Amino acid sequence: MDTLIALRHDLHTHPELAFAEHRSSDVVASFLQALGLEVHRDLAGTGVVGVLSNGKGDGARSIGLRADLDALPIVEQNEFAHRSQHEGRMHACGHDGHTAMLLGAAEELARSRDFVGTVVFIFQPAEETDAGARVMIEQGLFERFPVDAVFGMHNWPGLAAGQFAVHTGPVMACADQFDIVLAGQGGHAAMPQQARDPLIAGAALVQALQTVVSRTLDPLDPAVISVTRFFAGGEAYNVIPTEAHIGGTVRAFRAEVQDQIEAAMARLSAGIAAAHGVQAHLDYRRGYPPTVNTTREAVLCTEVARRVAGEGKVRIDLPPSMGAEDFAYMLLEKPGCYVWIGNGLGKDGRMLHSPHYDFNDRILPLGIAYWVELVKRALSDN
Ligand code: NI
Repeated sequence: MDTLIALRHDLHTHPELAFAEHRSSDVVASFLQALGLEVHRDLAGTGVVGVLSNGKGDGARSIGLRADLDALPIVEQNEFAHRSQHEGRMHACGHDGHTAMLLGAAEELARSRDFVGTVVFIFQPAEETDAGARVMIEQGLFERFPVDAVFGMHNWPGLAAGQFAVHTGPVMACADQFDIVLAGQGGHAAMPQQARDPLIAGAALVQALQTVVSRTLDPLDPAVISVTRFFAGGEAYNVIPTEAHIGGTVRAFRAEVQDQIEAAMARLSAGIAAAHGVQAHLDYRRGYPPTVNTTREAVLCTEVARRVAGEGKVRIDLPPSMGAEDFAYMLLEKPGCYVWIGNGLGKDGRMLHSPHYDFNDRILPLGIAYWVELVKRALSDN
C-alpha cells in the first residue's frame, strides 16, 4: 500500500488540468505496462485504457472500470509535503486517489486473475470540464473495448471513511447553462420615454425564472435554476443601457425535466421581453447529463460494498447530489453504477473543490477491495 500512497502523493504534487494530463497519463500507462496489461493511449489525447483478460472464451463477459485524471484550477492552501508544486492547479476533487485506487485494483487483479472475462480499466481526462468521457466515447471507446457494463467511484467528504453510498437511479444532476440577451434601445436616463429599457425587463425576468421550478414542474421532480450573472450598462449613471445579459445554471435529474425547463425559459423570456417592448434571445446549452445508475448494477454494487465494508456501512438512503459528473455519458451508453466512497467527515470545510481538501489515503485499501470484489462478482464463471 505504501507504493500506492506514494504514487497518490506524486500525482497530488503534480496536478494537471483538462486534456493536459500528460505526466499523469505517463504514470498510469507505465504502471499498467509493468503489470503486463495491454495499454492503449490514443483516446482523447491523454486518456489511457488498460485491458486485462482472463479465460477469454465464448460468451465471456467484459466490464469497464473508470477513474479520472484531471485536477482543478485552484490555489492549494494545504501545507503538507505532497501539496501541489504547480501554483494555481490542485487535485481538489480526489482524482489522484481515484487513479491510485484503480491502479491498485489492476495490480491485484493482474496477480490474482480471480475472474473470467475482460476488465477494461479506463483512465479519462477532463472530468471537471470539457467532458473527457464523452470525447473518449466519440473516439470509439466502446467500439474498440466493448463492455457489458461500466462502473465509477467517487470519494465523498461528509460520508465517514469506511462507508459507501449507492443510489438506484439518479445520483448526480445535469449541469446545463443558459444565457439570455435582452436587447432594447438605450437612451438618456432622464428621458426613459425615449428608450426601451432592457434592465427593467431583465429584473422582471430574473424573478420570473424562479417560478419555473415552483409553478411548471411536478413538485416531486427536483430541479434548480440559479441565475448567477446579470450585466447591464457600463460606468454611466445617466444612461439607459442597450442590452442586459442574464446567465446561470440549471440542475435536474431527468431529460424530460430539462426539456420542460428550457421550454418554460423560452416562453418567459419572450413574453416578458414583449411586455417591456424589448427583444429576448435565449441560448440554452445542455451540459453533462444526469448520472443515472441502472437498477441491476446498483443492486450488484450495493452487495459488493456490503461485502467489503460491512453490512451497516453502506448507505442506500442518501439523497442524490445536485453536482454533475461526466461519467453520465458512459451511463447513456452502457448499464452501470457510480458509487460514493466515504472520504471522512470533511472537517473545517475540507470538501470537494476546497483549497484545503485532500484525498484520504486511509480509504485506498477499501476502494481497491471494492473494485476487486466487483470484478470477481460481475465476471464470475457461473
Ligand atoms: Ni471529481
